[in-house]
Amino acid sequence: MIYLTGEIHPAPDKSISHRALMISSIAEGKTTIKNFLRSDDCLSTLKCLQALGVEIEDAGGKEIIVHGKGKFLSPPASGAPLYAGNSGTTARLLSGILAGQNFKTTLTGDASLSSRPMNRIARPLEMMGATVKTTDGKLPLEISGGRLKAIDYDSPVASAQVKSCILLAALYADGKTTFREPQISRDHTERMLSNFGVRLTSSVTDNHGPSAGTRYSVSLTGPVKKLVSPGEILVPADISSAAFFLVAGATIPGSRIKLKNVGLNPTRTGILSVLKRMGAAIKISIPDGKNHPDSEPSGDITVSYSHGLRAVTIDKDEIPLLIDELPVIAVAATQAAGETIVKGASELRVKETDRIKSIVNELSKIGAEIKEFPDGFSVKGPVKLSHKRNQAPLESYGDHRMAMSLAVALLIAGGEDNFQDIKNYECASVSYPDFYKTLKSLIKK
Ligand code: S3P
Repeated sequence: MIYLTGEIHPAPDKSISHRALMISSIAEGKTTIKNFLRSDDCLSTLKCLQALGVEIEDAGGKEIIVHGKGKFLSPPASGAPLYAGNSGTTARLLSGILAGQNFKTTLTGDASLSSRPMNRIARPLEMMGATVKTTDGKLPLEISGGRLKAIDYDSPVASAQVKSCILLAALYADGKTTFREPQISRDHTERMLSNFGVRLTSSVTDNHGPSAGTRYSVSLTGPVKKLVSPGEILVPADISSAAFFLVAGATIPGSRIKLKNVGLNPTRTGILSVLKRMGAAIKISIPDGKNHPDSEPSGDITVSYSHGLRAVTIDKDEIPLLIDELPVIAVAATQAAGETIVKGASELRVKETDRIKSIVNELSKIGAEIKEFPDGFSVKGPVKLSHKRNQAPLESYGDHRMAMSLAVALLIAGGEDNFQDIKNYECASVSYPDFYKTLKSLIKK
């Protein structure tokens, strides 16, 4: 039997790497981004910003130097479209900046991104005064920007991409923009903007009655004269990338993995709460004095194999804190006693693929007892997963997180490196170019 042991630095945080590039591009001064994620998605953002006239020094390593151009960028040469590849974060966040520019831009993406909803940003940007033409609510998108006006916007979805788009546009708008969301989504944009000298105010309110839960609102008054570079941004490891190792470590007998310097922003740590509720042995150590409230907290996480994992219930309020981890949580649930139930997660249907349908289809093929709901799924465990070389390959649907979740499921099934049985497993490079290499480095027999 195989098991996993060792110490790794998971891939740098994708959300923070995108924001570091975009926000330092519209700031004054030079920003050195350390531990930048060189993945397909973040490189799409980098190329778009270069096309908008930002000078970026990139020697091909993990350190990138951005020479801030200030809030106003240049139109792409001869009106060429900006290509966001597979990256929803590039398309949606960049749209907020483009809405404040005095020229017209076209944004395009790959087939997966071109099937994802864009009205969620187009509508509020139009309310702010930009002209946004979508293609039936999707990409290609044409944005004509300029001077914007502030809005008070009640978002129907808790989405950090929508929130960040509006906050970036608010930098160019007259007056106080307020963005409200049903639950708090990741707040990296808020933290980074304040590190660049932008003043934001936020509040969390508890609702009672039929729509009980916490609501979150954040406000920013524009136009903001200038953003000032803090000089350096250090990107921690991505907890969403660490999640694959946390699940593998907790479920494969004999395993123990130390994950170094992982981002522990409380709007991202839902996976840790869930695994702890399941009974996983997880230890977190935070180096003294390292964590400033406005920057990103981080620390080391050690996970050990945990006998007797238990099923959990995850509902709507917790979803934004672990949205990207749900496919791999489904994998963990196959090894937990009882019925795990995930509800209020219909946003999963509009990710890189329909992640509810995809995870249910693929885990069923290898023996999971998993059922689909309109807004989630349920998994009964523990079950023995199995996949034989001569069986049909599993399908990643070209979705990086599906590929990596299935790789963990196949490891649990006892396969050492049968990730080759996952169609297009290489798509992991969207967020984690070294994933399989790192996984292999931990495997012991
Ligand atoms: C992201 C926000 C989330 C997440 C995505 C990255 C971000 O999307 O799923 O992988 O960097 O802001 P939504 O905000 O649309 O939920």
